[in-house]
Amino acid sequence: MSFSAEWLALREPFDRQARHPGVLQRVAAALSGRPAVTIVDLACGTGSTLRALSPHLPMRQSWRLFDNDLSLLARVPPAANLHLQPLDLVIDLEAALDGPVDLVTTSALLDLVSDSWLERFVTEVAARRLPIYASLTYDGRVEFAPADRHDLAVIAAVNSHQRRDKGFGPALGPLAPRTAAEHLEKVGYAVELGDADWLLHESDLAMQEAMLAGWAVAASETGEISDEAVGGWLVNRRAALMAKRSTIRVGHVDLFASPADARRADRSQSNSTSSPSR
Ligand SMILES: C[S@@+](CC[C@H](N)C(=O)[O-])C[C@H]1O[C@@H](n2cnc3c(N)ncnc32)[C@H](O)[C@@H]1O
Repeated sequence: MSFSAEWLALREPFDRQARHPGVLQRVAAALSGRPAVTIVDLACGTGSTLRALSPHLPMRQSWRLFDNDLSLLARVPPAANLHLQPLDLVIDLEAALDGPVDLVTTSALLDLVSDSWLERFVTEVAARRLPIYASLTYDGRVEFAPADRHDLAVIAAVNSHQRRDKGFGPALGPLAPRTAAEHLEKVGYAVELGDADWLLHESDLAMQEAMLAGWAVAASETGEISDEAVGGWLVNRRAALMAKRSTIRVGHVDLFASPADARRADRSQSNSTSSPSR
């Protein structure tokens, strides 16, 4: 499945606004006090996670960014501390995680992957005792105002479309946040979750229009709802949008997970730094 640079640019400000501040703070706290950190960002797109997270981390950062789409990688602004690598996560996930790494990040990826790929990812990350920051995973909640009588049926169809294969096997779609937490807890990780919903306001015309058009196509592709119903829904939603009366909330979840021994090390480090008398 491919994602256009234009789409990633359109969504980035909404992603940035949506990121759960408490989860972001936990990521920063887990790495604070280290002189330098190395971060691996999986499915980086044009570098949205790098831009959102780097101001919260220690000064000396080294980033390794992976994506299988060269045209997106080519749009990551160059910097001395960045290493960009084209890589297919279905084939070479393990290679992306090898070497010295302090944190694994990804955003807007986990809803695209299958349960078996997610299990493999958790196994590999746990084998290396690496903390994970997985942000902006879609969780299936969508709320519209004003309401339309077809909202629920359209989003139900969209959510079943989300479960189609996106290149990793049958996708988890809206089940991804809960499934990720369950797999991580099973390997002894402490998991913190926080809602990271997009809030699309009346004036966010381009983003709302893109979402409505995408949802209409996806819903009709499932055949679970008639084209007539989807068409009527789109006309009504666009009318509300043009009248500057439409708002949409799209549910996402941010996750930070860390292995038990990392948490113990964090605690002892913060004890020794917070009490100068020791
Ligand atoms: C929804 S976009 C998110 C991009 C970026 N993380 C962001 O938040 O803007 C999903 C990303 O996954 C990448 N991707 C999809 N399948 C992949 C695969 N098999 N291997 C590596 N990257 C993949 C796409 O190229 C795209 O950049």
